[in-house]
Formats: sequence, C-alpha cells, structure tokens
Amino acid sequence: MYTDKVMDHFSNPRNVGEIDGADGVGEVGNASCGDIMKIFLKVENDVITDVKFKTFGCGAAIATSSMVTEMAMGKTLDEALELSNAAVAEALDGLPAQKMHCSNLAADALHEAIKDYKAKHP
Ligand code: FES
Repeated sequence: MYTDKVMDHFSNPRNVGEIDGADGVGEVGNASCGDIMKIFLKVENDVITDVKFKTFGCGAAIATSSMVTEMAMGKTLDEALELSNAAVAEALDGLPAQKMHCSNLAADALHEAIKDYKAKHP
C-alpha cells in the first residue's frame, strides 16, 4: 500500500524533535482524524537553516512531515512557501488515495511556521 520512500521516512524519520528558541513555530491539526503536526524553524538571512517536527499522527503524516523538513532545509522562506502538499506527496512517490488527506498537515504546518516567523520579524 505504501511506497518504499514512505516506509523509509516512516521507519526512519528525519529531523524529529523541537528547536529551543525557534524563530518560527507552526501547528496544524487535521480535522478529519484529529492528528496534529508542529514545525519549528531556525532562519538566517531569510534562509531556513534548521527545521524539526513533532507529529502526533499516522504513518503517512509522519512520512510527509519528515519529507517536508528535508525539502524545506536550506530553502529561502519564499521558496519554502511554494512547497505544496501535493509536491510533498509526490516526493514520496505518492500516497494511497485514502491517505492523501494526511499530506495536508506537512506543507500547511511549514507555511504556518513561516507566517509565524514573518509576524515576529516584520
Ligand atoms: Fe490523520 Fe493520517 S490519519 S494524518
């Protein structure tokens, strides 16, 4: 049911944890299942220099969280804002149709963290 990439990121998630004194924090919940994802960012000169996540959710939510942190690392804030939920699912070689909603957490939480950073650093 899951691709090798999904299984890899689920079994060995990258960038798990919190960042003390994060420059931006974003949290989103998935209304359909109640799962929650939180993203922490460190930003220097508009570039994401560190990113970590904590996800209380299903395997697909953990895999998409892990993938979105890898995709966001080193990107400028504007580039990271362009990362879509669909792009994250695609980078995992797809998700089963009934699990596509799980990918909604990943890019949304990243975007919320960027908005939080921008609000704190106008
Ligand atoms: Fe809730 Fe996947 S079932 S995010």
